[in-house]
Amino acid sequence: MNVLLLGSGGREHALAWKIAASPLLTKLYASPGNPGIGRFAELVKLDIADHSTVAAFCQEKKIDLVVVGPEGPLVAGIADDLRAWGIRVFGPSRAAARLEGSKGFTKDLCAKFNIPTAAYGRFADLAAAKAYVEKTGAPIVIKADGLAAGKGVTIAMTLEEALAALDACFDGAFGAAGAEVVVEEYLTGEEASFFCLCDGATALPFGTAQDHKRVGDGDTGPNTGGMGAYSPAPVMTPDMTERTMREIVEPTMRGMANLGAPFAGILFAGLMITDQGPKLIEYNTRFGDPECQVLMMRLKDDLLVLLNAAVDGQLAHMSVRWSDGAALTVVMAARGYPGTPEKGSVIRGLDEAASDGAEIFHAGTAINGGALVANGGRVLNVTATGTTVGEAQKKAYVAIDRIDWPQGFFRHDIGWRAVEREQTGK
Ligand code: AMP
Ligand code: GLY
Repeated sequence: MNVLLLGSGGREHALAWKIAASPLLTKLYASPGNPGIGRFAELVKLDIADHSTVAAFCQEKKIDLVVVGPEGPLVAGIADDLRAWGIRVFGPSRAAARLEGSKGFTKDLCAKFNIPTAAYGRFADLAAAKAYVEKTGAPIVIKADGLAAGKGVTIAMTLEEALAALDACFDGAFGAAGAEVVVEEYLTGEEASFFCLCDGATALPFGTAQDHKRVGDGDTGPNTGGMGAYSPAPVMTPDMTERTMREIVEPTMRGMANLGAPFAGILFAGLMITDQGPKLIEYNTRFGDPECQVLMMRLKDDLLVLLNAAVDGQLAHMSVRWSDGAALTVVMAARGYPGTPEKGSVIRGLDEAASDGAEIFHAGTAINGGALVANGGRVLNVTATGTTVGEAQKKAYVAIDRIDWPQGFFRHDIGWRAVEREQTGK
């Protein structure tokens, strides 16, 4: 098969690595890709926003499958437009990607199909939103409705913060994404990322992970796209997984089919495991980044076979095998992240760092004058496996020690919750 992979982050590097291991692959192309992906794929410059250009490329290169990494093109309808040209695409339609593209859409779906989630109100008007917040009180959560690159959520511990967040949203802090807001109940519990591979009718559980959203050790500082992750998430016991499928994912699949927008692709449920059980925080309609990196390290099966089955509506006949142990990834970020990262600093020592079996996925790198340089906020994902999370954690940090990049920083405590559990046996 000829495959085109869209995207340029660590998630896409991990996907490329796994796709390249498939005996089904003839040739992999990636656009725009990155220097790490370039080891497995021919990198091509395509204007991904121009769907007919992508389609023309697919026809010329006889692409058998397009794999879409990030949410932006999905919400913009790239899957629909390529399918109209007869091209096979792994990823949801525009209508199904509303599960990520509009938080209000997802909340209304939950209300309609009785899916457990935080109580909420949906507002296109500042005064009405403020009245709701004043009536409900803090802590409370304010979310811009649309895609805001992970920055549209404010966890307001006081009424003042909540009102300020509403002002910011309606003042255009998130552009069109904030023209509407969701205000919701503050949930407490442990968070988990839960993935399902979906073909429109069947949802096949596809691994669990835990992310670390805050930039600093001890879960401090501003939110990021994710500073590290590990898989599996111990909180997702077989019982919790079964409940999540029955109470959240399956009603979503039926609900989306019911609305004429069956979901095919990766459904990523951000969950809060509360005293009452799993509640949906949000859906994403693509792999998590960096969660994908740890899932790919643990997946024993051929990813291309599974993606094909999802595209062809054959998941009811499939199963998935994972390695028994754990995988953990630590994000190395450029100084300044999650604000404006410093670009251009030189990174050395990746081959030495990877010599003990760590995989180093490139998230934001470029080649400049023959040298590997930082070219984004999250720059590298240093990833390792082990029989326990603790062992994977040790290996990842040993690899990081060997990387020569003084301008990079990382969290020192990725996996702490699971390691603590392993040590105390609870
Ligand atoms: P989101 O962009 O919706 O994933 O939100 C970012 C983060 O905010 C989540 O990973 C949670 O840590 C937190 N969060 C979102 N919604 C809630 C909520 N209703 N209660 C508590 N925390 C939340
Ligand atoms: N790591 C969280 C996300 O990909 O949305």
